[in-house]
Amino acid sequence: MTDFSTIYKLSLVALTCFIQACSSSSSSSCPVLECWFVQEKAGRGGGLTGATTQEKSLLHIRTDPDQHSAEALKAPADIHPDRVYLITDPAATLCHRSLNPPRGSIKKPQCEINPFLPHPSSLKWVAPLTESALSPIFLQADWFSAALQGVDGQLGISSITRAPTGTKEQSVILSVTSKTISVQARLGRPVVLDCGFWLDPSSPLSSGFAVEWRYQFRGNGRLVLAYDGKTDRLADTQDEGASLDFEGLHQNGNASLILQESKVLHSGTFICTVYLPYLLAQVAMELEIVEPPSLSIHPSPLPLTVPGQTLTIQCEASGFAPLTLELSWEFIGADGKSRPLGSGRVTGHRQAWDGTFSQSTRLELDTSKLDLGRGGEVTCVAVHPGGTRRASVTLNLIGFSSPSIEDSMAMVGVALVLYGLIKFISWTFSSSGSK
Ligand SMILES: *[C@@H]1O[C@H](CO)[C@@H](O)[C@H](O)[C@H]1NC(C)=O
Repeated sequence: MTDFSTIYKLSLVALTCFIQACSSSSSSSCPVLECWFVQEKAGRGGGLTGATTQEKSLLHIRTDPDQHSAEALKAPADIHPDRVYLITDPAATLCHRSLNPPRGSIKKPQCEINPFLPHPSSLKWVAPLTESALSPIFLQADWFSAALQGVDGQLGISSITRAPTGTKEQSVILSVTSKTISVQARLGRPVVLDCGFWLDPSSPLSSGFAVEWRYQFRGNGRLVLAYDGKTDRLADTQDEGASLDFEGLHQNGNASLILQESKVLHSGTFICTVYLPYLLAQVAMELEIVEPPSLSIHPSPLPLTVPGQTLTIQCEASGFAPLTLELSWEFIGADGKSRPLGSGRVTGHRQAWDGTFSQSTRLELDTSKLDLGRGGEVTCVAVHPGGTRRASVTLNLIGFSSPSIEDSMAMVGVALVLYGLIKFISWTFSSSGSK
C-alpha cells in the first residue's frame, strides 16, 4: 500500500514536471515577430488615394492571456510604442517553429499586419452566416488581419485578431493555415492542397463558417468549390474531382482541397478562404503540375549507313508540362566516349487537348564530317524540370564494320570462285597454246 502511494506520488510529480516543461517550452517557443504594419493613407480631401503607409511593428505572441501584459513590453528604438502589440493565440498557430528561426539566422519569416473592417458578405455561400442582420456589439473593437509566411517556404498563415478599442492586446479570433504553399505534382496523380482553420470557440462569431476555394492563373479566376458549413450546402461548380473531407472539416477545421486527378490546367494559384460571420481570412498556394516528356526517335532502327551519307534523324518529345524543355543530341561511340552533336533543328511547340506540350528536333548527321568510327549510339537528350529523359538509336556504318562470319564465308566463296576462274582461264590458254 505504501509502495503504491509512493509510486503514485512519484508519477504525479513526474506528470506535473512534464506538464510544466511542456507549457514553459511552448510559451518560450512563441516568437516575437517583426512585422510591417501597412495601412491605407487617407488622401487629401478625406478620400482614399490607394496609397499605403508602412511602419515597423512588433508582435509579441503568447498562448495564455495571463502571461505578461502589454505594459511590460518595451519598444525598441526604431519602433513606435503604439506599434508594439501583444497577441493571444490559444491555438498556438503563430508559435510554429518556422516563424521562430534560431537567433542570428539570415532567413526571417515574412509578416504584414493591416487594420481590418468586419463586414457581411453577399456571396451565396456566406450570406446565411449573417442572416439575422444584427451585428453583435463584439464587432465594435479594433480589428486586424495578419499575413505570415514561415522561413521554410511552406507555411502560410492568415489571422484575424481583435483588440478592445484603444488597447494593444489582440486576440486571435480566426486563423487559416496552409502547410503547402508551394506544391509540385505529377500529371494524373491525386493532389491534396493543405488548408486548416481555427476559430475562437468562445467568440460570438463562431456560430457558423463557410469555405471557398478559388483558382487563379494570369488574371483569370474561377470558383473551384464553395461550402456553406452552416446549412451544410455545396455551391454548384464546374470542377469535377475537387472535394473536401467534410468530416475532418467539421471536426478539426480541415478544409484541405482534394483533387482526384491533377491536370495541366490545375497549374496556378489556389486560394483557400474561410468565412465567419463578418470576417474572412485566406491563404494562397501555388500548384505546379510537372510532367517530363516521353521521347521517340524516327527512323528507328536507323538504316545501314555508308560513310559520307547524311542521315536525318527526328526526336519527338511529347506529353510534357510546363513548357520548359532543352533538346539536344549526342553520340556515344564504340569506345564509350560521348560527343555532343548540338541541338539540331528544334521546332515550335504544340499543345495537346490535355494541356501537355510536344516539341521535336531534327538532326542532320553528316557521317563524313565526324569521326564516328564504326558507329555507336545516337542519343536524343531532353532536359526538363520534371527530369532528364534520353532515347537512343544504334548507328551502323558499313564498310567500317569488322567482317562478320557471313561476310568471311562469302569472301572465302568469292576467293574460291576467283581461284577456279583463274585456274580455268589458265587451263584454257595452256591447252589452246599446246594445240
Ligand atoms: C486533412 O485532410 C486531407 C485530405 O483528406 C488529409 O490528407 C490530411 O492529412 C488532413 N490533415 C490533417 C491535419 O488532418
